[in-house]
Amino acid sequence: MNTPKHIAIIMDGNGRWAQERGLKRIKGHEKGAQVVREITTFCANHPEVETLTLYAFSTENWKRPKMEVEFLMKLLDEWLKKELETYQKENVKFEVIGDISKFSPKLQQRINYTKEVTKNNTRLTQVLALNYGGRDEIVRACRRAKKAKVELNEESFNQFLDAPIGDVDMLIRTGGEKRISNFLLWRIAYAELFFTNTYWPDFTPKELESLIEEFKGRNRRFGGI
Ligand code: FPP
Repeated sequence: MNTPKHIAIIMDGNGRWAQERGLKRIKGHEKGAQVVREITTFCANHPEVETLTLYAFSTENWKRPKMEVEFLMKLLDEWLKKELETYQKENVKFEVIGDISKFSPKLQQRINYTKEVTKNNTRLTQVLALNYGGRDEIVRACRRAKKAKVELNEESFNQFLDAPIGDVDMLIRTGGEKRISNFLLWRIAYAELFFTNTYWPDFTPKELESLIEEFKGRNRRFGGI
């Protein structure tokens, strides 16, 4: 049976969730942040899930109105500060992929501090993709590889990616769209894809559980027969 060791999620639909309730888009992000905690706690307590990678801010998200970008940065900073307690309680290691050098020094400091404090936690690795783009990660990995002068093959290339988080087993996108949006391009080569109409703020551990059950029933052949 398939094991859902690495689950990756494109958390889409925050804005629409809020707008449909007559609320400002940022309220959707606030509720979305609560759901991040619930799904992380569920995965930390799941016997098979080892890594949860979440698309929190893409290289394209800078194009959003300045106020929304600023809100997301502030939310992330406050959320990480608060969330340290959950990481420690649930034994979760925090990792980041993406180019965080574009963030404010304060936010970079918060991110690095959270990574450092949680680095020995073992029950789950939660990876936030921050200022992340799949192509951008591959290009940055190529630059590192060029400097290292290592003979490149598919195996050795992995070490130059942003973090050693391995291949994705399940890629889930909430919010009804059916696209990859430049997420984890290298690592989703053999991922099983799941698309749900549920907006991220309405996504629940129960729905994730049922997607995991569906995943277990899929026939993964990795190109074989
Ligand atoms: C997509 O919804 C979501 C984002 C661009 C940001 C994801 C952020 C969160 C889930 C909350 C903050 C996360 C953390 C870790 C603190 P959208 O705004 O594109 O929704 P729409 O497609 O309905 O407009």
